[in-house]
Amino acid sequence: MNVLGINASPRKNANTQTLVQAVLDGAAEKGAQTRLVNLREMDIHGCMGCEGCKKQLGQCVQKDDMTPLLQDMTGFDAVVMGTPVYWFHVSAQFKMLVDRLYCFMGTKKNSETGEETMFFEFPEGKKFVFIISRGDPEPPQMFPQFYDHLNEWLNLIPISLGAGKFEFFHQYGAHLDRKAARNDADLLIKAKAVGAGFFD
Ligand SMILES: Cc1cc2nc3c(=O)[nH]c(=O)nc-3n(C[C@H](O)[C@H](O)[C@H](O)COP(=O)(O)O)c2cc1C
Repeated sequence: MNVLGINASPRKNANTQTLVQAVLDGAAEKGAQTRLVNLREMDIHGCMGCEGCKKQLGQCVQKDDMTPLLQDMTGFDAVVMGTPVYWFHVSAQFKMLVDRLYCFMGTKKNSETGEETMFFEFPEGKKFVFIISRGDPEPPQMFPQFYDHLNEWLNLIPISLGAGKFEFFHQYGAHLDRKAARNDADLLIKAKAVGAGFFD
């Protein structure tokens, strides 16, 4: 079992990274090989919408550090993707990654009806964990509907990629304290258990 962790927080060693690492540690204790990548350290850009990938699915024509990462994602058994909540949504780094996953998306046309359907040229059955760290408590004091929307939207990622199993792991009430996860022993134990759960 090999597990890739992707931290999309721009803050070094902060909550999202701590929790992604804890999931990786839980998996490693069961014998997994793990690797953590921090998007903030990489030269990454947003999707250009050039449609170049539609000529060869899975190959983003844009040459930056996201290009090999997208390929790497196909080779891991499990992927842990972490983002802080920014403006009731994901971080810009996380959204850039999700947009670039568009390179795996193709369309098929039914020859009889002419109807087009979407598919993803991505190896099926992977396990995904999503770490979402936010300042607000649960329930939030304001705009709960935006969090409902975010949580629904996040489901699209593993469903589109044909995940075998996926789960969401939330940190609530971190405020702007970058050490909130590090100082929460119960939360760290739970995150490690999620990593160990890859072997269930
Ligand atoms: C630009 C910005 C926007 C934020 N927006 C929200 C928000 O909409 N809801 C929320 O609960 N927390 C919000 N936060 C707080 C972060 O989600 C919270 O501090 C989180 O723990 C940061 O993760 P990190 O420690 O991994 O960087 C925001 C923080 C920043 C810097």
